Amino acid sequence: ERQKHIRNFSIVAHIDHGKSTLADRILEMTDTVSKREMQNQLLDSMDLERERGITIKLNAVELHYHAKNGETYIFHLIDTPGHVDFSYEVSRSLAACEGAVLVVDAAQGVEAQTLANVYLAIDDDLEIVPVINKIDLPSARPEEIRQEIEDVIGLDASEAVLASAKQGIGIEEILEKVVHDVPAPTGDLSAPLKALIFDSVYDDYRGVVLSIRVFEGTVKPGDRIRLMNTETEYEVTEVGVNSPKPLKREVLMAGDVGYLTASIKDIQDTRVGDTVTNADNPAEKVLEGYREMAPMVYSGLYPTDNAKYNDLREALEKLQLNDAALEFEPETSQALGFGFRCGFLGLLHMDVVQERLEREFNMDLITTAPSVTYDVELTDGTHKKVDNPAAMPEASTIKQINEPFVKATIMVPNDYVGSVMELCQRKRGNFLTMDYLDEYRVNVIYEMPLSEIIFDFFDKLKSSTRGYASLDYDLDGTRPSDLVKIDILLNGDKVDALSFISHRQFAAERGRTIASRLKEIIPRQNFEVPIQAAIGAKIVARTNIKAYRKDVTARIHTGDPDRRAKLLEKQKRGKKRMKSVGTVEVPQEAFMAVLKTD
Ligand code: GTP
Repeated sequence: ERQKHIRNFSIVAHIDHGKSTLADRILEMTDTVSKREMQNQLLDSMDLERERGITIKLNAVELHYHAKNGETYIFHLIDTPGHVDFSYEVSRSLAACEGAVLVVDAAQGVEAQTLANVYLAIDDDLEIVPVINKIDLPSARPEEIRQEIEDVIGLDASEAVLASAKQGIGIEEILEKVVHDVPAPTGDLSAPLKALIFDSVYDDYRGVVLSIRVFEGTVKPGDRIRLMNTETEYEVTEVGVNSPKPLKREVLMAGDVGYLTASIKDIQDTRVGDTVTNADNPAEKVLEGYREMAPMVYSGLYPTDNAKYNDLREALEKLQLNDAALEFEPETSQALGFGFRCGFLGLLHMDVVQERLEREFNMDLITTAPSVTYDVELTDGTHKKVDNPAAMPEASTIKQINEPFVKATIMVPNDYVGSVMELCQRKRGNFLTMDYLDEYRVNVIYEMPLSEIIFDFFDKLKSSTRGYASLDYDLDGTRPSDLVKIDILLNGDKVDALSFISHRQFAAERGRTIASRLKEIIPRQNFEVPIQAAIGAKIVARTNIKAYRKDVTARIHTGDPDRRAKLLEKQKRGKKRMKSVGTVEVPQEAFMAVLKTD
């Protein structure tokens, strides 16, 4: 029957090892898209994903594969992101699968997210199909990598497929392995419906579109369904699959991966990880959902135009539906007005959210500097969670500040261990252990403040190891730290949105660095603007933005009028990302000035 011919699988890899390219080749090979429609990285459907060359969202497509044994198989391929910020998307797509194709770059070998992602798959009991990709590269060392997969991950790689997604080598062999190694889904077609929601997106016409994996029973238009955790009921209006365009189906049954709509208008009713069942004949138990992802960093999001506050809330609600890890709640800032405090999984996630809000919802936004959540113990014995530096209580009322720490695993070739340790030390890390993975690779483990990791640590790590180090980290509780709040004053007024937290040892120096950076970033106004950095009442840095004397736009007038028109048009089209704080116009970059630590 049908189920025996279904294979649900995901592709997992470290970032840039070639997942999306492989997915493209698989789509071509199975004629899922015609050559004419073929665009590179077809599954990366967001413009943002194509521009940046990274996968952000998971995507599921159905394709048909005519195997060598003469039978046709239905594949559901779920693409996943590789960046550490988006690992929650990986665990969600894996929950919908029976197998995973593990892609390892033949030149780079096993890296930190290779390990993290393959362990997620192994924990979910998925069958792993190892693939060594990019064998066309002159620097490829496939046999060494085969050994590395065995030694470092502990997987049998003797049958690993040698492939080049770019040149289309080994693709059929991979598909044959999926047919033979990945088990077909099981699940009782006559049992009450049990389907897992693994993604959702809001569509203006159809309402909420749920991506589901059916584990038991069937679902078709007209069925009354219940979302088990939110306890709401709907009538199904449409079911179908993405191939990759939506294709309506009469029914989805146990083993299928597809979509479902039910004129769901209330965004609050749907939760990724929830179980869909029949309203009249409900399943007894919900499916195991996902681990809830706790945001790692928080920042304020403010519309540059205060009147757009409600639009921003609506946009955040819709975006949250498609991005389960995004959290937000209202916040006010003296400097910026009404906005939202948002929680993100990391800086890339924060960046992506800001860009998506601007592109998909036409917002013009200011993001304030990200902060981690501190646990502040007050002298009266109570604790306060502080994720906004401006909300840090008076120093005199604080007994102790506990700072979130992570356990950071850095995988690096031998030769660079010294520079990695030096960097970690400088970022307030405590050395824990070091394991040799094989003769030339080492896993270095440190406990470090999360705040040091999320800022520019990764860039520094890459540059001090010529790109060879990879990083993975997990939250690991809090530790007491000697931290202070630094305030920034513009024109004599404290700007709450520019306050930041720093270790006392570096505080004065960072205050000076940031004051001088702000001086460069904030454009001249028609009056002189003093910038000061203060710890409590003590001013630790002071500088001035000079007033401009002549009309600077006059210079543009004298130039080519054509060029000026173009410039103006460009300015109009481009987002403004500028906010008046009191009488001073402050650009977006100013709020991010604290991110660069030197
Ligand atoms: P994320 O989606 O961001 O996690 O990355 P990814 O793993 O999907 O990588 P992607 O497919 O975007 O490929 C990364 C880069 O490697 C691109 O520049 C590809 O063109 C290149 N690439 C992929 N496969 C091959 C291959 O077989 N050979 C060579 N030489 N380059 C490849």
